[in-house]
Amino acid sequence: MSRDKKIIIGNFKMNLNVHESSLYLHTLAGMVKPRRNVEVVLAPTTLAIQSLSLQVSHRQFKLAAQNFYWRDHGPYTGEVSATMLRGIVKYGLVGHSERRHVFHESDKDIRDKVQAAIRNGIRPVLCIGETAAERADGETQHALHDQLVGGLANVTSDELEQVIIAYEPVWAIGTGQNAVPSDVTAAIQAIRNHISHLYGKPAAEFAQVLYGGSVTASTAADYLALPDVDGLLVGGASLDAHAFTQIIELAHQSGSGEEEL
Ligand code: PGA
Repeated sequence: MSRDKKIIIGNFKMNLNVHESSLYLHTLAGMVKPRRNVEVVLAPTTLAIQSLSLQVSHRQFKLAAQNFYWRDHGPYTGEVSATMLRGIVKYGLVGHSERRHVFHESDKDIRDKVQAAIRNGIRPVLCIGETAAERADGETQHALHDQLVGGLANVTSDELEQVIIAYEPVWAIGTGQNAVPSDVTAAIQAIRNHISHLYGKPAAEFAQVLYGGSVTASTAADYLALPDVDGLLVGGASLDAHAFTQIIELAHQSGSGEEEL
């Protein structure tokens, strides 16, 4: 997918049960115009993915898994594999800060999940970002480097085209304290530099990089106007159909190509 198309992902987190997700999708479907230059992705609870995949217009929305286990099958009580999600979701979040910090996922877990997604035809959205302490210590660039190198360790140049990177400063997630656009540009340029060192300049220019962290309908345009930002990962504001629709429209307006689908 080319960088001309903005990606807007709504991460519902552990909100909206199956029934509520379905009602929400129904409301959103009535509000969002399908646009050629915007890919709208919904990441509901795992429980609702199957039913939403039957309800959703795939022209209008794609689905993402918020999480999955890296092995394909076996004695892993309570887990859902990327193999089970194959064909139902187009994307899978990997390394979200809540997975790293609340569930203590390691770099190895994240690396294995990136691989599992790719192996199963699911595009991994690799989330990376510094904590407040790392930021205060001037360690942002190192943190991004380490998470990027860790997450992409087994990814070949060909496979890299499947990977989306989401820059999400941990201190900005769910806090209402969003990063200023110049900091986002600096971080994403650092990310592209690291990718360039690992895979070469064309790969760095081709890579799709999103911003996430307390994005609202009033701040979205500032991020979407940044040439390095290819879309947004939206948590809280994606639960409000009006706000989310506005963010999608702003993505449409910020990009090239005006036509409806
Ligand atoms: P937030 O979440 O928009 O509620 O800060 C973003 C995310 O967790 O991806």
